[in-house]
Amino acid sequence: MPTIRSWALALFAARHVVADFDPLSLVDPLIGSDNGGNVFAGASLPYGMAKAVADVNGQNTGGFATDGSGVTGFSAMHDSGTGGNPSLGNFPILPQLCPDDVIDNCKFLITDRAVNYTNASVVATPGYFGVSLTNGIDAEMTATEHAALYKFKFPTGDNGTGSKPFVLLDLTDLWQSRQNASVSVDATTGQIRANGTFLPSFGAGYYQSFVCVDFAGSPVNDTGIWVNNRAGTEVKDLFVTRGFNLFYIQAGGFVTFEPSSDGVLYARVGVSLVSTEQACQNAEKEISEPSKDFKRIQSAAESAWREKLNPVSVKADGVSTSLQQMFWSGIYRTMMSPQNYTGENPLWNSTEPYFDSYYCIWDAFRAQHPLLTIIDPSAQSQMLRSLLDIYKNEGWLPDCRMSLCKGWTQGGSNADILFADAYVKNLTGIDWNFAYEAMVNDAENEPLEWSYEGRGGLQSWKTLNYIPYLDFDYLGFGTNSRSISRTLEYSYNDFGLATVAKGLGKDSAAKYLSRSTNWQNLFKKDQTSFINGTDTGFKGFFQPKYLNGTWGYQDPIACSALANFCSLTSNPSETFESSVWEYQFFVPHDMSKAIELLGGAEEFISRLDFFHESGLADIGNEPVFLTVYDYHYAGRPGLSTKRVHYYIPSSFNATEDGLPGNDDSGAMGSFTVFSMLGLFPNPGQNVYLISTPFFESVSIKHPETGKTATIRVSNFDPTYKDIYIQNATLNGQPYTKSWIGHEFFLHGMTLELTVGDNETASTWGKSADDLPPSSSVSSMLSM
Ligand SMILES: *[C@@H]1O[C@H](CO)[C@@H](O)[C@H](O)[C@H]1NC(C)=O
Ligand SMILES: *[C@@H]1O[C@H](CO)[C@@H](O)[C@H](O)[C@H]1NC(C)=O
Ligand SMILES: *[C@@H]1O[C@H](CO)[C@@H](O)[C@H](O)[C@H]1NC(C)=O
Ligand SMILES: *[C@@H]1O[C@H](CO)[C@@H](O)[C@H](O)[C@H]1NC(C)=O
Ligand SMILES: *[C@@H]1O[C@H](CO)[C@@H](O)[C@H](O)[C@H]1NC(C)=O
Ligand SMILES: *[C@@H]1O[C@H](CO)[C@@H](O)[C@H](O)[C@H]1NC(C)=O
Ligand SMILES: *[C@@H]1O[C@H](CO)[C@@H](O)[C@H](O)[C@H]1NC(C)=O
Ligand SMILES: *[C@@H]1O[C@H](CO)[C@@H](O)[C@H](O)[C@H]1NC(C)=O
Ligand SMILES: *[C@@H]1O[C@H](CO)[C@@H](O)[C@H](O)[C@H]1NC(C)=O
Ligand SMILES: *[C@@H]1O[C@H](CO)[C@@H](O)[C@H](O)[C@H]1NC(C)=O
Ligand SMILES: *[C@@H]1O[C@H](CO)[C@@H](O)[C@H](O)[C@H]1NC(C)=O
Ligand SMILES: *[C@@H]1O[C@H](CO)[C@@H](O)[C@H](O)[C@H]1NC(C)=O
Repeated sequence: MPTIRSWALALFAARHVVADFDPLSLVDPLIGSDNGGNVFAGASLPYGMAKAVADVNGQNTGGFATDGSGVTGFSAMHDSGTGGNPSLGNFPILPQLCPDDVIDNCKFLITDRAVNYTNASVVATPGYFGVSLTNGIDAEMTATEHAALYKFKFPTGDNGTGSKPFVLLDLTDLWQSRQNASVSVDATTGQIRANGTFLPSFGAGYYQSFVCVDFAGSPVNDTGIWVNNRAGTEVKDLFVTRGFNLFYIQAGGFVTFEPSSDGVLYARVGVSLVSTEQACQNAEKEISEPSKDFKRIQSAAESAWREKLNPVSVKADGVSTSLQQMFWSGIYRTMMSPQNYTGENPLWNSTEPYFDSYYCIWDAFRAQHPLLTIIDPSAQSQMLRSLLDIYKNEGWLPDCRMSLCKGWTQGGSNADILFADAYVKNLTGIDWNFAYEAMVNDAENEPLEWSYEGRGGLQSWKTLNYIPYLDFDYLGFGTNSRSISRTLEYSYNDFGLATVAKGLGKDSAAKYLSRSTNWQNLFKKDQTSFINGTDTGFKGFFQPKYLNGTWGYQDPIACSALANFCSLTSNPSETFESSVWEYQFFVPHDMSKAIELLGGAEEFISRLDFFHESGLADIGNEPVFLTVYDYHYAGRPGLSTKRVHYYIPSSFNATEDGLPGNDDSGAMGSFTVFSMLGLFPNPGQNVYLISTPFFESVSIKHPETGKTATIRVSNFDPTYKDIYIQNATLNGQPYTKSWIGHEFFLHGMTLELTVGDNETASTWGKSADDLPPSSSVSSMLSM
């Protein structure tokens, strides 16, 4: 226990720091709330299960959007940044005044009840969301781990709109995926308990969700249930089904209140995936006095966020506010998901942590999880333990997971990369022999349903050493497509496995290293690429290959930003959500060999330039990330820096439409953060590619070792003309390599970069010895 004095001093010191600089003031949760960013813009704790926001009838994948659509309710569970179907949003509540205080005059159906809001009224800050509806009701909300607290302010005085506050609860979710559901309203207290079965937004199966709503601030007038657009006060319990024809009936419960003098009504919403009782207990435990707790809970949420942002500090002199906002908001969004459902997993009993909304690892392995490894290693370790517990209880590591369900696999078994990454970065708390077993399972055993676990085509993978176009695979089933991108990803997954195997001293390391070269088997040397009949001039691309070894054909520009987007559901092709053009740069473990096949460093650089400048690059989707930094592997790290400064801020900026694509649980946010701090991970390897930070200096204090790593720029130019590293020192010693390992963070090193305006004049990071590692030229060969 600290003494009162030391406590007071610590408080003073904390206040002092806060007074100087509060990173929360630079977090804007509305970045990416329009234009398909799909971010969750509401109130949540870091990794919180309760996520409260206004749900709209426009772009509502993450609940709210600043797209001018109407508010249909307020719900307390969401995902952030995902694509496709809207996620969660179970059991929305909506306050109204019923004209003449006649309940049937209120609006029940989702199509009728949407209320507009004024854009200027939207206030979103970490742990808080507020909006004024054009019907005169103001809504504010904050959140604890498993409960949301809403403060609704009704207009006082009756001018014909009615005076009795009315709140309905809808037995639905954002996707209207509800199957059977029940609601019970307590006639005395107005407490509403509900449960229902729903579908995961990008996965198989179903899940049950539970909610417990209590009100405070105004006395209850009456209670009841509603079905379609009719309501009654006689009945307090309702069970609805989704039966014949999957017909969907809108229904729920409601409460009316006597108006209070200040018009304020609090609603406390406890959530659970276990039971209604647990939802109520969660709420009671975390928010004991709804009418008094709002400020306390909001400031507890702010403190939790401050603590999470605390490891990072920047010297931002001369740097625009919007760039700073992108940076801090990117860190913030990285900690929205996966969500901590520990204690809320009904599927198995375990003492291990349970996280959910790995949505999807295909997106998140590239930058999001690597960022957590640096700024919140304890959370990252818990997430990996949770993945292993999923493997233990369900038999497979997921590539995607949400709402207690298996999510659709997009490419490889990319949890393998998360484990390889953690292994090479010495993340603590992982049972490595067990992790190895789970990874071997991905590499060796084909599941019946490889659409949501493991890998398909493993017989061909092992015998032919590539995934064939139109494979003959009777062992397991999934969409028979993506042969090129799966070959590339499986190769990298096997490299990750080889890395862990080697570290653990397993004989299998050589086998998996050998399999990690399988990508070369789909390289067709004489393949050309035309755009609108004009030869791009580049020869040699990946192509699909049949079982019999004959080449198939996919136009290298298909699925690029110049052609139709390829999704798993609408038009599956041999590359997933990206083109052959983009995937040619995705050989993360052996860029040296890729560069050789693509015609050498100069040719490679002109291909990369052409790719980024012709419109072929899809900066809005994750496979592009590494292509921005691939110049490092061709000995031109300054060109990566130049490229990053093109995309930031032209495609990543601090506006509501400032994300070029779905944020995908913080994938875009973490891309921005790594790019701005001047180190970009090649996940699965102990490698960060060095670039010039957007700040004069950036420091990161390791939350466990307490050591501080600093990157400092001498001659820092906030106009970003002098962005090319001329030379560098590490802990005062000259440092010429264009990359650095995680030791930098673990040991708290100092990297000092001297920059200038001339990329060609600099020799830094350009010689063969200075290139980041590639498996065909590194010591891995000696295994
Ligand atoms: C809500 O806003 C939309 C779009 O601006 C508009 O078309 C609609 O009439 C508004 N609804 C009401 C009830 O004001
Ligand atoms: C009645 O009150 C509502 C809510 O304050 C307000 O929006 C509306 O303009 C008022 N109508 C009249 C006729 O005063
Ligand atoms: C949902 O609530 C109803 C009514 O209270 C109850 O009968 C039912 O067992 C509950 N379902 C689950 C899965 O808890
Ligand atoms: C609710 O209010 C109405 C008047 O609007 C009144 O007639 C009714 O008795 C009230 N109900 C209860 C349960 O107090
Ligand atoms: C977890 O343990 C409890 C208490 O033993 C038991 O009632 C429950 O059925 C178990 N749940 C599962 C999913 O095994
Ligand atoms: C997740 O929740 C559990 C249970 O409340 C807690 O012990 C753990 O610290 C949480 N993890 C993180 C990263 O917040
Ligand atoms: C991880 O630990 C091993 C063994 O102690 C050590 O050789 C290696 O350098 C460490 N890696 C990092 C990134 O610190
Ligand atoms: C190809 O030609 C069509 C028709 O002239 C044009 O609309 C399109 O922009 C062209 N695409 C490219 C990539 O040049
Ligand atoms: C290989 O299979 C493909 C697809 O069935 C076929 O078009 C091609 O002719 C075959 N090649 C040979 C050499 O048999
Ligand atoms: C901000 O980013 C968005 C999304 O990429 C882009 O559409 C927009 O043009 C950018 N704004 C500016 C001013 O560059
Ligand atoms: C680094 O570059 C700067 C500017 O060109 C030069 O002044 C300095 O001497 C160089 N330092 C080293 C160690 O090469
Ligand atoms: C950059 O340096 C190169 C080589 O020293 C020189 O030829 C070139 O003129 C310089 N470019 C600029 C813009 O100063």
